Amino acid sequence: MPLSAVILAAGMGKRMRSSRPKVMHSLAGKTLLRHVYDTARRLSCDEVYIVHGHGAEQVRAAHETCNARWVEQAQQLGTGHALMQVIDAIPASHHVIVLYGDVPLVGVETLSALVDAAGATGFSLLTAHLDNPVGYGRIVRGATGKVVKIVEQCDASEQEQLLREINTGMMVARADLLQNWLNLLTDDNVQREYLLTDVVGHAVQQGIEVQTVFPASSMEIKGVNDRAQLAELERHHQLEQAQALMRQGVSLADPARFDLRGTLATGEDVFIDVNVVIEGEVHIGHRAVIGPHCVIRASRIGDEAQIHAHSVIDNAEIGARNRIGPFARIRPGSSLNEDVHIGNFVEVKQSTLGQGAKANHLSYIGDSEVGARVNIGAGAITCNYDGVEKHKTIIGDDVFIGSNTELIAPLTINPGATIAAGATISKDVEPGALTVSRRENRVVPDWKRGRKKT
Ligand code: UD1
Ligand code: CA
Repeated sequence: MPLSAVILAAGMGKRMRSSRPKVMHSLAGKTLLRHVYDTARRLSCDEVYIVHGHGAEQVRAAHETCNARWVEQAQQLGTGHALMQVIDAIPASHHVIVLYGDVPLVGVETLSALVDAAGATGFSLLTAHLDNPVGYGRIVRGATGKVVKIVEQCDASEQEQLLREINTGMMVARADLLQNWLNLLTDDNVQREYLLTDVVGHAVQQGIEVQTVFPASSMEIKGVNDRAQLAELERHHQLEQAQALMRQGVSLADPARFDLRGTLATGEDVFIDVNVVIEGEVHIGHRAVIGPHCVIRASRIGDEAQIHAHSVIDNAEIGARNRIGPFARIRPGSSLNEDVHIGNFVEVKQSTLGQGAKANHLSYIGDSEVGARVNIGAGAITCNYDGVEKHKTIIGDDVFIGSNTELIAPLTINPGATIAAGATISKDVEPGALTVSRRENRVVPDWKRGRKKT
């Protein structure tokens, strides 16, 4: 049967105490809503509807790349009311799966089981047993064990409050049945809202048996209502990702101190030290070592590269056998060939470095093409910006740049040239030439320093 997903995401999320709508908060670098959307897509839904309301424009703009139908619920009159906004748009022949924008970790296997279960009677519900069910709607079962209704926490009697089987909110129903039950909802309850949970009672009254499914893990059904719950889910999710990487053969010095906010593909025998943060799409080659406290964003790290402690690599290509850091910063648009060494306090931006090039200490290399085997001395910098525009520095193969040199772009230093330490270079340099650009020293022999007056 064709499947439509509806993601409820109109609420504000008061307990987050945030100016951003709740579903905009991120978990592992992705918004809560995006997690749910991606899961719905992995379930191969024919159509995904997102009911939004609070911060509507902001939410839509942040999720432009979602191929969803956006339905606005201007006034948030309850979860049942939210579903009423879309039900007419969904073909009667579809199954509808209801998902929550603030329940980000529900698994696709659990949802598939829920969809399958609905096949039998047209209605299935995802429920779970919790040690502490406070705050959730409770599942009330009759003498034969069949579901009779759901009662919300605030409507529950003392005895009902003892029930530990809870409503996760997620359900699958045939669209025609659901439409019929939604028409029967009223706001005659403590909250004065149209509660989606009341459809269960209507289904039972019409003689439809509610199928129930349990999630594989109780973390899957946990919602984010405040920042503590968000942090709890983040840590849980990070640990799961770390465990998956270890199963693939990656060594993590401490799986509890590793954060992946994107996707990581790795070769064999990669080692990742503590407190490394990986963002976006990252690839790390065979036997590469990532030192402690590194941040790597949307980059490729070559085979056997060593990234030493406290280095930041952003949108860059690091070649095989490179040695980067400690304390190096490789910025967007940089591409380093094989065997490049970049040492401490070196910044590389929008530059290419040829095989075996080295800049080991305190340099800035910006908008440059650096040839093979070039040696850049300590403190040498490219002056790429004249206050208005950025200019290029081109350094040929086998050039030697002495320490503390200023290379004023636009500038070409041809292959094999040598720049003596302490130079300011503003004119192109011929191949193989030595350029010395420094003041003669003035020497005053037997110089007596002045003394402080007492
Ligand atoms: C809901 C269920 C409860 C269940 C719990 C599981 C109802 C009435 N109760 O309660 O049985 O145990 O989820 O987490 O369904 N939303 C809208 N429009 C609205 C109201 C809510 O889109 O008018 C959205 C919210 O943005 C949120 C979701 O629906 O993503 C759930 O709403 P919330 O108010 O958090 O419901 P709970 O009280 O948690
Ligand atoms: Ca909730």
